[in-house]
Amino acid sequence: MKKIIVILFATLISLISLNCYSKNELQTLSPELREVIQKKMVSIQNGMQNMIPAISSGNYKEVSAIAFKIEKNFIEEQKITAQQKYELKDKLPTKYGLIEQQFYDYAKMLREASQDHDSTLVSVYYSKLLGSCSSCHSQHATKQFPLFIQKPVKNK
Ligand code: HEC
Repeated sequence: MKKIIVILFATLISLISLNCYSKNELQTLSPELREVIQKKMVSIQNGMQNMIPAISSGNYKEVSAIAFKIEKNFIEEQKITAQQKYELKDKLPTKYGLIEQQFYDYAKMLREASQDHDSTLVSVYYSKLLGSCSSCHSQHATKQFPLFIQKPVKNK
């Protein structure tokens, strides 16, 4: 019985420390790598903003060009050094990579929908792309976006 309690306690402690680790993972990245991520983010945000007038005016060529740029932005991560690639893999959890991959997939689907001039799917994938921003930030960047961890307040 005692043994079981010890095992349970040890599991609990390791779960708690794992949780803390995942919350501070970004802080462990080198300043150079964080700068790469921040630059990429600003360019993605500009793209998202510029897509609004393009989508609302049916300028599918522009939408697909911007979506492609966002897609490429993620691919260009390949340009970082092998050591930085290792650092990213080592320090960021698998879950981060999965959201990132999904984000990249949505950008690709948005590009394809705009190439097909499919306004419904363009809106769907724009919204999915936007959802990935908050999904990733609320799980992995709450230091930069602390509003995600605030309790909801009822609007009057
Ligand atoms: C897979 C995760 C992920 C996704 C998806 C993601 N972000 Fe980020 N974003 C981050 C992380 C991590 C940071 C914090 C980087 C740091 O400070 O080191 C960040 C920071 C930012 C910043 C602040 C950059 C700065 O100058 O400090 C902006 C702006 C931003 N993201 C916009 C976006 C937008 C817009 C989207 C969606 C279209 C998006 N992000 C999608 C992970 C993500």
